[in-house]
Amino acid sequence: LPEQSLSNLVLVLNGPNLNLLGTREPDIYGATTLDDIGAMLMERGDRLGLIVDMRQSNHEGHLVDWLHEAAERRACAVILNAGAYTHTSVALRDAIKAISVPVIEVHLSNPAARESFRHRSHVSPVARGVIQGFGAKGYVLALDAAAAIRQGDD
Ligand code: DQA
Repeated sequence: LPEQSLSNLVLVLNGPNLNLLGTREPDIYGATTLDDIGAMLMERGDRLGLIVDMRQSNHEGHLVDWLHEAAERRACAVILNAGAYTHTSVALRDAIKAISVPVIEVHLSNPAARESFRHRSHVSPVARGVIQGFGAKGYVLALDAAAAIRQGDD
């Protein structure tokens, strides 16, 4: 996608190990791959009039850079599944705090119902909202939320 600034742009950022979706602990994360999710979001984005730019990285700093890029390009929202960095990364929290683009936190599983080390999110206190526990559908719900935020009817 060209690096242009678009008021209907939504960055969908995925953190560590999410490239393995489909084969990674399918009992917890489902059989849907990240490519499948990307396709679902492109289709829904078309209907909602949103441009979806989806990425994945296993590196914390890439996620920080992309949050900054979302602000530079004046994206209308970021959908963020930070994976395990959710529970560890002050840098991601600070990046979200530093930008005015609303960030929608997504998790496939419901971390609150899992091990205690997943109960703390550094992202939640600075996120616009959180969608977790609905599997791949959560990303689509998040895109609907992004459209609602953009229309100001939230
Ligand atoms: C996750 C939940 C995190 O606790 C975990 O580290 C992940 C995936 C989810 O989508 O359910 O990598 O963010």
